[in-house]
This record gives sequence, C-alpha cells and structure tokens, in this order.
Amino acid sequence: MCGIVGYVGSQSAVPVLVEGLSRLEYRGYDSAGIAVLSAKGTRVFRKVGRVRDLEASLPGRIAGKVGIGHTRWATHGPATQDNAHPQTSADGRVSVVHNGIIDNASSLRERLAAQGVKFTSDTDTEVIAHLVAGSEAGTLEGAVLDALSRITGTYAIAVIDERRPDRIVAARNGSPLILGVGDREMFVASDLAALVRHTTSVVHLDDGELATVTSSEFRTFSRDEENTAKSPTSIDLETDDVGLDGHQHYMHSEILEQPTSVERMLRGRLDDRFGTARLDGLNLGPRQLRGFRRVKILGCGSAYYAGQIGAAMIEELARIPADAEPASEFRYRNPIIEPDTLYVAVSQSGETADTAFAVREVKRKGGQVIGLVNVVGSAIARESDGGIYLHAGPEIAVASTKALTHMAIGFAMLALSLGRVRDLSISDGQRIIAGLRSLPGQILQIADDEPHIAEVARDLAAAPSLFFIGRVRGFPVAREGAQKFKEVSYRHAEAYQASELKHGPLALIDESLPTVAIVPDDELTERNLASMQQIAARGGRLVAITHPGVAVGALAAASITVPKNEPELDPILLTIPLQLMAYHAALSLGHDIDKPRNLAKSVTVE
Ligand code: G6P
Repeated sequence: MCGIVGYVGSQSAVPVLVEGLSRLEYRGYDSAGIAVLSAKGTRVFRKVGRVRDLEASLPGRIAGKVGIGHTRWATHGPATQDNAHPQTSADGRVSVVHNGIIDNASSLRERLAAQGVKFTSDTDTEVIAHLVAGSEAGTLEGAVLDALSRITGTYAIAVIDERRPDRIVAARNGSPLILGVGDREMFVASDLAALVRHTTSVVHLDDGELATVTSSEFRTFSRDEENTAKSPTSIDLETDDVGLDGHQHYMHSEILEQPTSVERMLRGRLDDRFGTARLDGLNLGPRQLRGFRRVKILGCGSAYYAGQIGAAMIEELARIPADAEPASEFRYRNPIIEPDTLYVAVSQSGETADTAFAVREVKRKGGQVIGLVNVVGSAIARESDGGIYLHAGPEIAVASTKALTHMAIGFAMLALSLGRVRDLSISDGQRIIAGLRSLPGQILQIADDEPHIAEVARDLAAAPSLFFIGRVRGFPVAREGAQKFKEVSYRHAEAYQASELKHGPLALIDESLPTVAIVPDDELTERNLASMQQIAARGGRLVAITHPGVAVGALAAASITVPKNEPELDPILLTIPLQLMAYHAALSLGHDIDKPRNLAKSVTVE
C-alpha cells in the first residue's frame, strides 16, 4: 500500500504519473513504479527509493497515453524492486497497482502455484494480476470482477490490460480511491494531492464500487454490474496550498502556518453573545446535546493524543465523563455501544483504516458518531453522522502538527457546545472564547522563540533516550511530545505521568537520560515541581515547558516559556514548542524529516 495514480488521456502518461507520484511522496513509501501501455506492449519501471530515483532511471521517451503508478510502503515482503508495484501477470499483459491488504493472499498463491503460475514477488498484489489475467470473462471489467470475487481484504486497485488499451479499471474496498475528471483525460488516484495540478472535478468511489475510465468518460458500477450513476463534485484546493512556501521541510512550514490556519478554523464559529460555538455540521440540536451521558473519542497516533486532550476539555467544561481510546484497539474488544454516548472519531486524513473500522463498529451497533476530520469528503467524514471539519489545509509531513492543534481546538469548541447546554455559564463560555481568539497571536510568540527552542532540541538530540512527563492536562501533551520526538528523531522517547515516575521509571534516571517536564501555571504546579525535584536529586537533567512566573529556577537546565491562556486551553499551546523541538532535533541529526523511516502519513491498512 501507499499511493496510487492512473492516467488515460491525450498527453504522454509518464510525466503525469511521475508528477502525481511525487505529490504522494508525503504519505511515506519505500519504492515506486509505473506501467504504461505503449504500441510495443506494457512497459514497467520500478525502483527502490525515491520517485526521483525512479524518474532518473527512466529511458528518454516512453510513448503511451495510458498508465498507472504507485508508491509502495511495504506490507507483504521487503522493499525490493520485485515487490514494488505495478505487479504484472506472467505474460506481462495485465498490470495492477494496489493499496490495502489481501487477507487470503497466501491460500490463493498456493492454489495458483499448483496450477503452474510462477510468482516473481512476495506481494499479495501479484495474486490480483494473475487472477485478472487468468479470468475467462470477455471484458477487463468482468475479469476484475472475477478476481475480486475470489479475494477478501481491503483494496484500492487500478488495472490496465494490453487487450483493452483504452482504459483503466479501478475498484475500492476499504482503501480510498478517487477519479479525476478532466477535459479529454481522466485520472485515478488514492489522494487528491495527486490530482490538484490537473483537475478540481472528482468522483469519490465508495467501498464495493468499481469504475472504468477512458479518455472521454468514466463509468462507476457495483459488484453486480449495476451502474452507480455518480456526478463529479468540485474540490476547493489550490495547487499552491501544497507548496513548501520557502521552508526546507513541510513539517516546519506546517508548524509555522498555525497562526493563520487557526484563525481560519475559528472564523465564524464562535458566538460571543452566548459564549458558545456554532457547529452546524454536528447535526445535533440542544436537546440531543443534552442527552449524552458520556463521550468516547477514537483516533490513532497523534489523533488519539489530541483525543486525550479533548477528553480532558470535555470533562472540565461540560462535566461529562469523557475518554479517548486508540481506535486501532477498539473493535477487537467487542465494545459496548451505549445509546447515550457520543462517539467522536478524530482523524486528519479521514482515511485511517483503524479509525474507519471503529466508526463502522459503532454504527453497526446503533451508536451515534461524529467526526473531527481534516480532509473534506474523506471516508470517515462521509460515514459519520455529523462533524467538525478542521480546516487545517493539506498536511503533508508524516508527523502531524497543525492538524493536531486543530483537533484540540475542535474539541474545545465541542466542549463549549456540550457545556453550554449544561452547567457551563455564559461568562465561562465567553472566557474560553476569548482564550481561543488569543491562540493565533500566542502561537506567533512561541514561533518567535524558535532559535532558543532549536538550541535546546540540539542538545536533547544527543541523548539516546528521553522521558516526557506531565500531569493530568499535561500528560497527553507529554505523550504527544514524546510521539513527535520519536517519529522524526528516532530517539527513544517515553511519556510518563509525572505522578507515576516514582513508582518505577525513576530507576532509569541518571545524567544520561534527560526529562522534558510539562509544568503549566495551574493548580498542579507545586506537584509538578516536586516531581522535578525527585529527578534533579538523582542527577537527571531537566527541560521545562512552562509558563511565565513558574519557579522552575535552578531545577531545569533549560526552560521554554509559553504564553499563558485559560487553563483548559493551555495544552494546545504547550504542544507547539514540542513540535519545534522534535523538528530541530531531527534536523540536527540529518533525518528525512517529512518522511520518517517506516512510517506512512495515512495508514489505510490495519
Ligand atoms: C499515522 C501517522 C500519524 C497519525 C496517524 C493517524 O500513523 O503516521 O502521524 O497521527 O496515522 O492519522 P489520521 O489521518 O487518522 O489523523
């Protein structure tokens, strides 16, 4: 799995495919390839490494106006040229690119091998190419349907066949796939980013749906070959939105873009008069909002940590029991779904398979789900009963920064809406609104401190292992800080509740293991300072992320001071220096910051 792009039209396919693949690079991948239908048959080129390595390896001119391309993030078999996509049938006639995982690949491989099929890769995808080529159906669509009827699992696929050189057949089940509609040209892609240079007119395929695209038309249909008449929708995405904007890395550009993106997110959504948020997309009236007895937040990775920050806000402001759980675990424990619980799925991409499956589990059992999602029209956004769009703009770096901030703000607005139909007073609502309005200016102040943060980060990068500690509100901040640090610096970073340190991990503290302590100016400051004392007394080096006036004094080797907001909103600002810290640590170590090893931006497999 990772990125898919397909082209059929009047232009030469290769440059379109290569450009599309480079737009998908941000998702993280380890090899790339393309297949183009030319007069001489299918020409396949694959390469381990970057899209630019693939491009450099291509012969000068490759004629052909129909082709498919892929960036692969290894799931079945290591990152080798043979395992890269496209995968082809033994005679080279059929080529396939695939995202997702075929669950019954090994039994199908055995069966095909017994029939004499020779496999050239370790991938599950190769099975699809052999099944399509082996089908006796008279059309490519029929052959793809035949193949799909034999496989179980998740997929987005695009298939080309020398016998039908005018088309691409595509299918989706559990992995995102969209069609781009152009003028005498059509596109297939796993992600809007691959299309933005060419068209803003798109068709989202649903699970179980297939499509045929030729240069002049597209047709979508179900597995029973019934047409599913779909009209293209227009997307609002400027190509420039996906640029680096003068920064060396997307991660840096995205961190520093937050004052602007947060202002955009808040626009029109705060109601000063009633001290609440205007969230029309929730599709929940005051009576329904009042009816919830519990809130359960589901997300993965940084989205899960944002959910923990959000759960604390909801408990504090609305006084409803709320907790966050990794969506990746949720459905495996046969969760109890309660009618008076509000389920909230939180996801930047809106396509994370684990989160999407959790949404389906809730809905199957009759629960009510709203989405906090960034990508408009994504699977989770479509499958939720309502939601809050994050309006963070495209996030390209694998390590999430601005999306996490927007998620936390989304939760603050949700907490306001839930609180104001309960016991949260108008004045407390207005206090939070004023706090939200201060965020963009305060984020700018943090950005001004970047040189100092970078210096601290370079120092921390020298340590092989670090602790991040926080208490109550500060704990999810510490968790996200450790997550960001390990993702891009590859240093072992572990988050702990400051209160739990003395119950075990304190044994690890010595001068070689630094601790980043989250020490806000709140009712727990004294307790946090006491935890710092315990570390300092054992020779541990400390970096404090704190507020003006907190007496971290000689306890910390360095401190980073963040502007104070309302206590409930402080976690939002406390995470931002941790983003810059992770970035500068990785920069000093010379890592591939936007595409950390082994990670993918949008994990559309389990
Ligand atoms: C992947 C990414 C993480 C991200 C998580 C959830 O694991 O590497 O950075 O936090 O997915 O992604 P989502 O798109 O659902 O927010």
